[in-house]
Amino acid sequence: MTWAQEFVELDKSIHDRTSFDCGEEALNTFLHTQAAKHMEVGVSRTMLLPASDPLPSGRYPICAFYTTAPSSISRETLPEALAKKLPHYPVPVFLLAQLAVHSEYHGQGLGKVTLIKALEYLLKVNVHMRAYAIIVDCLNDGAEQFYLKYGFEELYQHNGRKRMFIPMKTVVQLFAYTRSD
Ligand SMILES: CC(C)(COP(=O)(O)OP(=O)(O)OC[C@H]1O[C@@H](n2cnc3c(N)ncnc32)[C@H](O)[C@@H]1OP(=O)(O)O)[C@@H](O)C(=O)NCCC(=O)NCCS
Repeated sequence: MTWAQEFVELDKSIHDRTSFDCGEEALNTFLHTQAAKHMEVGVSRTMLLPASDPLPSGRYPICAFYTTAPSSISRETLPEALAKKLPHYPVPVFLLAQLAVHSEYHGQGLGKVTLIKALEYLLKVNVHMRAYAIIVDCLNDGAEQFYLKYGFEELYQHNGRKRMFIPMKTVVQLFAYTRSD
């Protein structure tokens, strides 16, 4: 199977959610049963990369996806040098709530592409509605290593997961550099 050219919004009438398997049950279940409902009620948005060819059912398998939502953190949870410049009320952030690649495509660079697409998407949102950082709650050590590689820093344990962050300012600089390079 090959993947399509572009990430698009999840549409349960077009995309085959049940065949997605990234090897992590929590993420599979989220995509199979919750992602579309969460979009319907307006708490998150899921974008995905479909396969280029449909199944016999007419629906397209999902090669990778990411889910984003608005969130907030308290300034006390950030490193002191950053915290002291921030207000005492909840600091707005973007939550990269989910990100996964179908097991069939692991190790082919699609995780990196998916993360770049998620950052690009949040950069666009940030033009209209500012947030201080992007946070992510890592499901396992592998995910932690993955995000560390791309500049995320550790914050604290949250619901049994390691919460990491990258300042929006850093993301803006990264993409400005890439564009002028
Ligand atoms: C984590 C995940 C998204 C990585 O996707 P992938 O397509 O296999 O990753 P890529 O091939 O794009 O790898 C990009 C880089 O990250 C590194 N990387 C990927 N998975 C890693 C892991 N588990 N541990 C350490 N490094 C990892 C790769 O070595 C690669 O580095 P390189 O460019 O120096 O070779 C994928 O394994 C996945 O979906 N896992 C299950 C779901 C999950 O845990 N998601 C995170 C939720 S918090």
